[in-house]
Amino acid sequence: MHEQIKNINTLEELQALYSATFGKNGTMTARLKEMKNLDNDARAALNQENQVLRELFKTRQTEIENAVLMAGLQKQKLDVSLNPMPENRGTLHPLTQSFKEVVNIFESLGYTYMTGPEIEDDWHNFTALNTPMHHPARDMQDTFFLTNGNVMRTQTSAVQIRAMKKNGVPIKMFTVGQCYRKELDATHSAMFGQIEGLYIDTIEKGVNLSDMLATMRTFASKYFEKDDLELRIRPSYFPFTDPSIEIDMKFGDKWMELLCGGMVHPNVLKNCNINPDKYQGFAFGFGWARLVMIKYGLNDIRAFTDSDVRWLKSAGF
Ligand code: DAH
Repeated sequence: MHEQIKNINTLEELQALYSATFGKNGTMTARLKEMKNLDNDARAALNQENQVLRELFKTRQTEIENAVLMAGLQKQKLDVSLNPMPENRGTLHPLTQSFKEVVNIFESLGYTYMTGPEIEDDWHNFTALNTPMHHPARDMQDTFFLTNGNVMRTQTSAVQIRAMKKNGVPIKMFTVGQCYRKELDATHSAMFGQIEGLYIDTIEKGVNLSDMLATMRTFASKYFEKDDLELRIRPSYFPFTDPSIEIDMKFGDKWMELLCGGMVHPNVLKNCNINPDKYQGFAFGFGWARLVMIKYGLNDIRAFTDSDVRWLKSAGF
């Protein structure tokens, strides 16, 4: 019996033998029942055997349990070379990445970053920008008007005005910020970012349109990391610049609109208490998402604010 117990390797078998020995109909149970018929020595011997057997079962149980535990641990051995979790790191949103690039480039060109409010008053958003009350340009932009007469700014050009009022001239500033218009389709979003720049200096310094073109070419070649850019200029109209232009850039065999701008209109300077006989300069505006869309070949501006990680991943971010 002793050897038999020691040779058992599973708890089930051990349990079966234990029951067959100490259970209701067990061999030892039967012998213990007959103990009263034994003499003293035989009783003592039986008691002794009873105890030894119980001890043996207990010891073997502990041994088997330990062996099972060890076998389990062996199987669970840590492989420190395994990747503990699927890698799922976040990235900066494409607009945030582009913001940093744009800021770096304009700062390297000597432009100072400035900001203005997204809830703007009518004067900064329209009037000071040479867009009087009944000017048709106000209809060009479908504006969100607030009940107190303020507007959700429709263009970052309002920040030009704030910058000139605050710092005076000469000035070389830019801003990046959100604007709002009542429009929504694949290429227009009700909230959209713009990049705006302004460079005004003395007449003697003579900041002119070709300076603007050179600046824009430098910006674009740095931003798109391309030296041999093909740009073309089209005449345009904005109430706050004269002359006004739009600049397109060739991508493959397609011309893409890149930015708008022009020489700041004398009325805008006057509205900011700057003498247009003494100062002149240019201003320009980009679509922020448009820059990213051109750079990465994306075509739906709405995706930028959908918060769909699958889109971000498929766009390579
Ligand atoms: N504010 C214009 C728009 O929203 C863009 C623009 C055009 C900005 C000409 C300028 C500029 O600074 O000079 O469409």
